[in-house]
Amino acid sequence: MEIRSVSWYPANDPPLQIPLVYHTPAYYNDTMKTFHIITFGCQMNEHDAERMTGILEAEGCISALAAEDADLVILNTCSIREKAEQKFFSELGRIKQLKDAKPGLKIAVAGCIAQQEGAKILSRAPYVDIVFGPSDISRLPEMVEKKRFWSAPVIDIAGDPAYHQKRIPTSRTDKLKAWVSIMYGCDNFCTYCVVPYLRGRERSRPGADIVHEVRELGQKGYREVTLLGQNVNSYGKGLEEACDFPSLLRLINDSSDIDRIRFVTSHPRDLSDELISAFSNVPKVCESLHLPVQSGSDDILRAMNRKYTREAYLNKVKRLHLAMPHITLTTDIIVGFPGESKRDFEMTMSLLEEVQFDGVYAFKYSMRPGTAALKCEGHLPEDVKESRLAQVLDLQGKMTSQKNSRLIGTKQEILVDGFSKKGGTLCGRTRGNKMVNIDAPASLVGSLVNVTITAAGMNSLSGRLCE
Ligand code: 5AD
Ligand code: SF4
Repeated sequence: MEIRSVSWYPANDPPLQIPLVYHTPAYYNDTMKTFHIITFGCQMNEHDAERMTGILEAEGCISALAAEDADLVILNTCSIREKAEQKFFSELGRIKQLKDAKPGLKIAVAGCIAQQEGAKILSRAPYVDIVFGPSDISRLPEMVEKKRFWSAPVIDIAGDPAYHQKRIPTSRTDKLKAWVSIMYGCDNFCTYCVVPYLRGRERSRPGADIVHEVRELGQKGYREVTLLGQNVNSYGKGLEEACDFPSLLRLINDSSDIDRIRFVTSHPRDLSDELISAFSNVPKVCESLHLPVQSGSDDILRAMNRKYTREAYLNKVKRLHLAMPHITLTTDIIVGFPGESKRDFEMTMSLLEEVQFDGVYAFKYSMRPGTAALKCEGHLPEDVKESRLAQVLDLQGKMTSQKNSRLIGTKQEILVDGFSKKGGTLCGRTRGNKMVNIDAPASLVGSLVNVTITAAGMNSLSGRLCE
């Protein structure tokens, strides 16, 4: 049998030899030329979509701008909260109408809902052709090929145990800033969260593969990377060659042309002193940290299984400020967790005032299938959650505006990354990740420039190019 090698199989092994019958670009050219991916949810999902695009483009397929122009539509789903699920099902209904008008259209469901529901999706949507989970992405070409011969739907949510060791071709949408996955899954089992059940146990990618990928990005002209993982601070568990997260940051800093390094998400329990000092002694690490606290009440933190106290969290914030006084801090808050009393909620509000975050992502607690919090006593009515959410957003809005206005008159380095939607002609981000609009020639897109901040609003700043 004729064979063809594919380049994204295990990085440390010689390329795997895959029978040609599964990988014939000519086939795709005949029957499955175009695809369109609709992504819901987090940056991890956005990046998974870039990988699916890379894999399909390597097979000769072309990414279509609209679902209407595609032979294959992939819905890349999120199930972190109920609202994300509802959005997916309404979008699926729209794509079904396209399929009614064009019966050859294939529909694939990927991501967390695919993993959660598996074949059950078909009882609600029997017209779906392919269902695959987040760790099954590299088998997408085989699935599409199988679907060509099978009338039955193709379901693949088994998960590939070697996924984290593979180099996956990636077609990135942004040409300056790149997401790079460094690990998959989560071992924390916060009681409200469905992620560990859907994305599996924590697996770290080999450090050499990550450094190789970032070095290549630098050579292609990328200026910034954001390292992705559910809990990047515990990176390195189970690796053959010992490498923890601060060491990985240092390796990337020293071995690539990238100018800026960011990372999400950090679990407060695992934020070590060594990582805190990386903000001051690893030059490319930007002074901004997303550190989800979830609640300011010890009772609720315990019920959430967060494994830190309010005091321990505040202590880490203090140490961060000592190491890097101008660090930008953002957080996640869940309001209305089961049993959250008025006093518990007030503890959250007082923590927000104490820390003075630069920004907060706040969510109403949402019941998720299979999670421990479902069985907790004291589920709260929707109107209580609504009112608490509004109070958090209101307080934080005022603090964010105040913090931003304190930047007026300061000099900031920004990476100019595109054209401004409002105010000025171009926009870019400070090392603290604040958006700045400036008037400047388009030739500066892609450059690091110094600006003086001249005005500040809640969502963005305005600046003037320094001489
Ligand atoms: N309900 C509400 N918010 C949730 N998050 C995770 N699970 C839930 C849930 N069941 C939030 C947390 C997490 C962010 C990514 O989503 O704040 O940090
Ligand atoms: Fe979910 Fe907690 Fe893991 Fe974050 S750390 S993905 S909130 S279980």
